[in-house]
Amino acid sequence: MEVVIVQDADAGGELIAETIADLLRRKRDALLGVATGSTPLPIYQALTAKVRAGEVDASGARIAQLDEYVGLPAGHPESYRSVVLREVVEPLGLGEGAFMGPDGAAEDVQAACEAYDRALAEAGGVDLQLLGIGTDGHIGFNEPCSSLASRTRIKTLTRQTRQDNARFFDSLDEVPHHVITQGIGTILEARHLVLLATGEGKAEAVAQTVEGPVAAVVPASALQLHPHATVVVDEAAASKLKLADYFRDTYAAKPDWQGI
Ligand code: F6R
Repeated sequence: MEVVIVQDADAGGELIAETIADLLRRKRDALLGVATGSTPLPIYQALTAKVRAGEVDASGARIAQLDEYVGLPAGHPESYRSVVLREVVEPLGLGEGAFMGPDGAAEDVQAACEAYDRALAEAGGVDLQLLGIGTDGHIGFNEPCSSLASRTRIKTLTRQTRQDNARFFDSLDEVPHHVITQGIGTILEARHLVLLATGEGKAEAVAQTVEGPVAAVVPASALQLHPHATVVVDEAAASKLKLADYFRDTYAAKPDWQGI
């Protein structure tokens, strides 16, 4: 696992956007797995700026959703489908045909989950999966004690996660209790995992993810099992890392051509 400590959220967004741009220059129809929430927004803004400046052609990119609320009415502005269309697909100039996600309104939720795992595989697998991290160490919506081998399925959000996400809704009561999330096993099949964490509120979860044991109680620690996982953190989110100086030295000494 590589840990890159950047000054702030914008620097993290720029670094990751450039990594995605590089991928699209090599593979124009790359399948990008995207997370929602606040953290990845600087990535999407920086990538959009590169596309608009003509630095990269994203017209062949394909976008795959990581998770979705269950039970929100179709078209709800906070459904993750709406968020990804608004924050990623439309700004990049892509159409809905370039986008795939699980059906949060399906009557048979389990069948919808299995169909999504199949669709990801049939699309050739995710080339680069963006991840945020919950204050409890979740990735996607794999809450603590999710199986490290889990597939896409329905999960129940913890009280903490519902409280954390209430800022996107008018009240806590409106935050759904259930979600469909790619499983940890599904996420680990992506070719490159890139987790961005910013702010002091994520420092403990980051320390446990990077320096703690691999344990289902900290779902993001599963990144330690992946051959190409990159954790990008700002100074605040890095503040509890014991090996911070080592990570800084390693990245500073890295040849430019190597990327992340
Ligand atoms: C959402 C997702 C979640 C978020 C996490 C952090 O698609 O994958 O794991 O990344 O809850 O959310 P923010 O970035 O809002 O702190």
